[in-house]
Amino acid sequence: MRKPIIAGNWKMNMTPTEARKLVDALAPLVADAACEVVICPPYVDLAFVADLLPGTNIALGAQNVHWAEKGAFTGEISAPMLKELGVKYVIVGHSERRQYFGETDETVNLRTKAAINAGITPIICVGESLEQRENGVTDAVVTVQTVAALKDMPEAAVKGLVIAYEPIWAIGTGKTATKEEANETIKVIRDAIRGVFGEAVAAEVRIQYGGSMNPKNASELMAMPEIDGGLIGGASLKPEDFARVVKY
Ligand code: 13P
Repeated sequence: MRKPIIAGNWKMNMTPTEARKLVDALAPLVADAACEVVICPPYVDLAFVADLLPGTNIALGAQNVHWAEKGAFTGEISAPMLKELGVKYVIVGHSERRQYFGETDETVNLRTKAAINAGITPIICVGESLEQRENGVTDAVVTVQTVAALKDMPEAAVKGLVIAYEPIWAIGTGKTATKEEANETIKVIRDAIRGVFGEAVAAEVRIQYGGSMNPKNASELMAMPEIDGGLIGGASLKPEDFARVVKY
């Protein structure tokens, strides 16, 4: 059985002061959650939020990681830096990174490996654009992205990581994939993993859905057999809403 995992991607929201308020409000609301609960604040909030989490069941995640351990990469953050702060998860290859910041399948692969080497679990994002869905190439797109992200990785590492299927047209638009669409495409992603790494790995990898997931649609999405969790943007910024998603 795969343990469901609900993660909040705060994106570029929340000053440290706002972050404290959110975490203080959220922690008691999710204390009895049955799933794994993760929040991914911006880098500048991480150290601050890390101090608030002991004694809660909320794990800390980051929104990106560079592939080098250290060096002349102005503005970047390395996996060992995150690890030392107590970061357990890191989002890699979010479509906003791919769209606005030149992230490629190759850099997603490098970042994924860096996270794993540091003992941080990557949450690798894949997903098609509206145009790709309309052209009927969704399955091919997510398969290529998944296989490329996991290139040259050992089975043991792949088993433990998390994939987030986020159709780009559903992100921040209020337009959610239907539960059938989400389930079907996540099955395609799992099949791609099976093709490269075999059944045991495919059966263990957790695959989330992300894209306008909210308190209203969380339970029907989470009831689908292939959907193992959610990556939540907008609804993760309101403690009551995020808690309701967590308790789908
Ligand atoms: P929304 O939940 O705001 O659509 O964002 C989804 C997302 O991109 C999470 O990474």
